[in-house]
Amino acid sequence: MLSASYADKAAALQGIEDGLRTFYRAYPDAPAASVDRAVATATHAYERNVFPSMKVTWGFYANNVGHSDPGPSPFPGCFRCHDESHRTRDGKAISQDCSLCHTIE
Ligand code: HEC
Ligand code: HEC
Repeated sequence: MLSASYADKAAALQGIEDGLRTFYRAYPDAPAASVDRAVATATHAYERNVFPSMKVTWGFYANNVGHSDPGPSPFPGCFRCHDESHRTRDGKAISQDCSLCHTIE
């Protein structure tokens, strides 16, 4: 629903809300408050990320935080440098060692 195209912003917010509510009708046990929150979160995400007049659609800009993502706009994340192949002249690589960024117990 976030990546569908709509005539304008008002139509988008309405379309997202209608789509989610229709979807959750198939799950009568879903608490109404949770469905309301899903609608609020999705419409808020749309408002912050999608700007049709600027041709900025959902997923238009890469998100380079974290690991690579093959998603709609693929990005290499931290691994665009931490790939063991960017090296200094004397051969020191930018490490992909998990423990550089994570504490693993
Ligand atoms: C533009 C290149 C680039 C990107 C993108 C990048 N890094 Fe790095 N990172 C480096 C370089 C260069 C070093 C220094 C490597 C060294 O000294 O061995 C480094 C070092 C680090 C270190 C080690 C610091 C230390 O004290 O040893 C951490 C942690 C780190 N990066 C985390 C990240 C995380 C998390 C991301 C993604 C959100 C990221 N990096 C993305 C280039 C990059
Ligand atoms: C250069 C830093 C860096 C290195 C090296 C790194 N990670 Fe990550 N990793 C991250 C960041 C940043 C996130 C995203 C955290 C977030 O979104 O809150 C992440 C997320 C994760 C997640 C959560 C799921 C996901 O994909 O978002 C797992 C599991 C994970 N890393 C495992 C690993 C393992 C295993 C390795 C070693 C092969 C590794 N990471 C190496 C920075 C790194």
